[in-house]
Amino acid sequence: MIANNGLLGIIVNKKKVFVPMAVDLIHDGHINILENAYTFGEVIVGLLTDEAIVKYKPLPVLNYQRREKIIKSLKYVKSVIKTLDWDYFRALEKLKPDFVVHGDDWKINNQKQVRINVLKQIKNWGGKLIEIPYTKGISSSQIKQILKKSINPLSLRTQTFSRMLNSKEIIRVLEVHNGISALIAENTKYKNKEFDCMWLSSLTHSTSKGKPDIEYIDDTTVTSTINDIFDCTMKPLIFDADSGGRVEHLKFTISNLERLGVSAMIIEDKIGEKKNSLSKLVKNQKQDTVSNFCKKIQISKESIKSSEMKVFARIESLILGNGLNDALKRAKDYINAGADGIMIHSKSKSPNEVFSFCKKYNNFKNRKPLIVVPSTYDKTSEIDLKKNNVNVVIYANQLMRSAIPSMQKAAQSILKNGRSFEHRSKMLSISDILELLNQ
Ligand code: SPV
Ligand code: MG
Repeated sequence: MIANNGLLGIIVNKKKVFVPMAVDLIHDGHINILENAYTFGEVIVGLLTDEAIVKYKPLPVLNYQRREKIIKSLKYVKSVIKTLDWDYFRALEKLKPDFVVHGDDWKINNQKQVRINVLKQIKNWGGKLIEIPYTKGISSSQIKQILKKSINPLSLRTQTFSRMLNSKEIIRVLEVHNGISALIAENTKYKNKEFDCMWLSSLTHSTSKGKPDIEYIDDTTVTSTINDIFDCTMKPLIFDADSGGRVEHLKFTISNLERLGVSAMIIEDKIGEKKNSLSKLVKNQKQDTVSNFCKKIQISKESIKSSEMKVFARIESLILGNGLNDALKRAKDYINAGADGIMIHSKSKSPNEVFSFCKKYNNFKNRKPLIVVPSTYDKTSEIDLKKNNVNVVIYANQLMRSAIPSMQKAAQSILKNGRSFEHRSKMLSISDILELLNQ
């Protein structure tokens, strides 16, 4: 770019320096990179969009607009370019920078391949890569935690869920039923993977209270459990609202959920005595009429006052043997009634009926996000779900199902041996428990 410095009337040929960034909160490591980049020419930050970032790491706390505002205000930065690809391909192609400046940690982290791609791409126009030594002693994840705490938690959870729906190929949700299971959902990581959201399951929540899944748990208990969960987590929560309860109570239930900061609720189109959808003993379970259920959706949506809380409609046609066409018709009607998305449930061991649903559903003109719950068809992986354009996968009961046999084994071992020593190695040490809970 040719820049005229005005004062001296000298024409200065400034080099273009591209600095890709995802950043939530700027720390001295970022400033270090920008400061260095500035010495090579005019700094153009390639700010990654949410969609680009979630390809290789969790969604940032701040949305694109807020991150852009921060970056633009920095004295080293000449301009910001919206960067849609996680390997910056289109931004680089457009800009053809003389230099790309990046922290050297990408030689070893999960951006290794991106580095190779970038080197190959910039070679086409003689661009050079400058790598700045990684600034040690800064924990981005710790900074992220601090940042999260400084944002109103009510809006953080609901806004994060909306942004995930707009940016993630698939949202991964784990069942929780109390504080400790929520802490596990919040903190479990595998490489760059983690759970995006939590699901407060009626099945496992009831189980944790030693009760059957029959809509027995009341609003006060639900509120108390959600408070426990929110007390130790920051992730969004999807609430299993069963049938939604009595229509005349619905608006109060929703006000309560909204006030607590729940991101979405799912109401199901069954009526009558509640039984869990996967129960083998289910008899006389009926589906609501389309018009009644649409009314519930409308009331739910109207009851949401100020937040971005979503209402999903859960279709039980496949569970009750009412067929694919019924499920598809209901999906259309429920979306027209205002549902923010659909959950299609199935108790088949194979994903076929769900995938047949997806095939037709994906052609809907006003298609909304689709949720599935692969409890019985558990061999189906996220890769296959993505291929079928599923937007949200809920692992609806796995923590509780793992906890029960584990507790039973401990109890049996103590009875058998008349002491707990034999089971010691299979249990968390007391100091690990204390550490887990930051005591
Ligand atoms: C739950 O987790 O409570 C659900 C899903 O509603 S299911 O148990 O499969 O019905
Ligand atoms: Mg349930």
